[in-house]
Amino acid sequence: MSSLIEEAKRRAAYRAVDQHITYHVRLVGIGSGSTIGYVVERLLQRGKEANARIVFIPTSFQSRQLIVDNGLTLGDVDQYPELDVTIDGADEVDENLNAIKGGGGCHLREKVVAEAAKKFIIIADYRKNAKTLGEKWKQGIPIEVVPFTYTRVIKELKDLGCENPTLRMANAKAGPVITDNGNFLIDAHFGLVNSPGELLRKIKLLTGVVEVGLFVDVADVVYFGNEDGSVSEKK
Ligand code: A5P
Repeated sequence: MSSLIEEAKRRAAYRAVDQHITYHVRLVGIGSGSTIGYVVERLLQRGKEANARIVFIPTSFQSRQLIVDNGLTLGDVDQYPELDVTIDGADEVDENLNAIKGGGGCHLREKVVAEAAKKFIIIADYRKNAKTLGEKWKQGIPIEVVPFTYTRVIKELKDLGCENPTLRMANAKAGPVITDNGNFLIDAHFGLVNSPGELLRKIKLLTGVVEVGLFVDVADVVYFGNEDGSVSEKK
C-alpha cells in the first residue's frame, strides 16, 4: 500500500479522534479494517489517563484484538446498547454519506455498533470518495447469509438484477469465508446504485439474508484523507 494512501487514512483517523473523542465521551465503538488502526494510534498518543474513562466496543474479532492488545478497556454492545460515538472505515461513500461496508465481512456487527451510537463517523482515504455507490468499489455489495440458504439467495439476487453474485471464498481448499457469526458472505454486483435505500430493503427481505453491507442514512460525518495531505469533512 502506497505511503500516500496510508498517510491519507492516518490524517482522516486523527481528525475524527481529535474532533469527536472529547472529554465527556465515555462509550466508543471501534470499527474494523486497516484505517481504524490509526484511530487507536491517535488514542494512545493522548496517554493512558485520557483513555481510562472510556469503554471501547468492538465490531469484529480484529477490532476486539486491537482494543485488548493496546490496553484499552473492552465492553460489548449487549452491555452498552447506547454509545456516544462510533468511528469506522468504509469501502465506498457516496455524496449523501451512504456507504458500502463489509469488505472485511464484519458489516453485521459494524451496523449494530454504528446504529447504537449517537454519532457515527466514517474515516476513509480519497479512493473511497464517490458520487454514487458502485462507482469505485468493484467487489460488489457484501451480504451475510445463513450458510444453508446461500444458493437460494444467489438465485433471488439474480432475479433482482444482480450481475454476478458470488460466494466469497477463503481459497479453493479452505472453502467459503466464515464470518465472526458463523455465516457465509455473498458479494453482489449491482453496477451503479442510484437508490441504495430501495436496494437495501429488497435484499434484506430475502429469506436467509442476515445483513447487507449498505449503510443508508447511518453516517453523520465522513472524513476523507486527500492525496494532497488535506482532510475533507462531509456532513
Ligand atoms: C469491514 O467489514 C469493512 O466494513 C471495513 O470497515 C472496510 O472494508 C474498510 O476497511 P479499510 O479501512 O481497510 O479500508
